[in-house]
Amino acid sequence: MIKYGILSTASIVERFVKGIRESHEGEVYAIASRSLDKAMIHAGRLGIKKYYGSYEELFEDEQVDIIYIPTVNGLHYRDCKNALLHHKHVIVEKPFVLKKDEAEELFALAKKNHCFLMEGQKAVFLPTTKKVKELIENDVIGQVQYIEFKAGFPGRFTYDHWMYDLKMGGGALYGSATYTIEYLQYLFDHPQIKISGTYLPCPTGSDEICNFQLILNDKILVSSTIAMNVGLKNEAVFYGKKGYIVVPNYWKSNQFNIHFHHQGEKHFSFPYNSEFVYEINHVHDCVNKGLLQSPIMNQEKTIQTIQLVDELYQNWK
Ligand SMILES: NC(=O)c1ccc[n+]([C@@H]2O[C@H](COP(=O)([O-])OP(=O)(O)OC[C@H]3O[C@@H](n4cnc5c(N)ncnc54)[C@H](OP(=O)(O)O)[C@@H]3O)[C@@H](O)[C@H]2O)c1
Repeated sequence: MIKYGILSTASIVERFVKGIRESHEGEVYAIASRSLDKAMIHAGRLGIKKYYGSYEELFEDEQVDIIYIPTVNGLHYRDCKNALLHHKHVIVEKPFVLKKDEAEELFALAKKNHCFLMEGQKAVFLPTTKKVKELIENDVIGQVQYIEFKAGFPGRFTYDHWMYDLKMGGGALYGSATYTIEYLQYLFDHPQIKISGTYLPCPTGSDEICNFQLILNDKILVSSTIAMNVGLKNEAVFYGKKGYIVVPNYWKSNQFNIHFHHQGEKHFSFPYNSEFVYEINHVHDCVNKGLLQSPIMNQEKTIQTIQLVDELYQNWK
């Protein structure tokens, strides 16, 4: 069994733990929080036997094989570096880190210490995403010309939450641009990408709603809107010459439709219990093979994403 240490009691932890338990060989071994009381309460709630009141104790536990890092975005670099220095394999939640230099340093450290390292990007491992890729490659909707992504998460955070603090990696773009960019990297085999975009700030100064445009390989136009202040029709739409594919909730999708311009429509469904299990099984395959990186969600893709997001934030300054 591959023993997981969970770093923090973040709200996403419950869903990830469900994925580990559904996987072939993952064991939820321990959880750590900055507060012992919090660690104890969440360990009890999630049925985890071992808990620690500091992150350091989890890093030092020799039983832990792999650490899952879903802390505040701006702390991923610090937490990942600590885990790697303790010779642990690591999955870092998206966005991996905020700066290219930090990412390069972490991947080099993982290599030096023979540790597996990957950005957690469940969307690219979903059966729906794989099927959409296959359909596009088989020309089922004709050549894709335009793609539209929309994602809205209204009312989830108050202005005092770190998700509204740019320095901590908050903001709509840091929060969810990875889903758009990495989904496209997977579908179109790591294309060349150009980016531009606009945003509206909120009282904390962070981008509460943003829209960015991507051009893939100088051939496909993409528009992506992410909102923390309004609900949107959460979906990705791929427009080809013969029809279009609509993927609702593209970052966790379990179904989608193809609409043909002349021949009606077709529905595809891939029910799951945990949307994380596919990513987790992939990590286990990599670790068992002794790989230090995923062949799918690798360093090049993560770094391209960081650079694109950083480029926009620099333009907006
Ligand atoms: N893949 C996905 O589907 C998905 C979905 C949602 C979020 N995420 C990612 O998962 C990560 C966590 O997101 P979340 O919404 O679950 O976050 P959250 O509930 O706000 O939790 C963040 C955790 O970070 C820890 N932390 C350490 N230092 C902190 C500080 N100075 N201030 C606040 N918290 C601090 C806290 O744990 P302790 O107090 O226990 O130490 C806290 O529970 C983010 O990177 C996010 O992008 C991924």
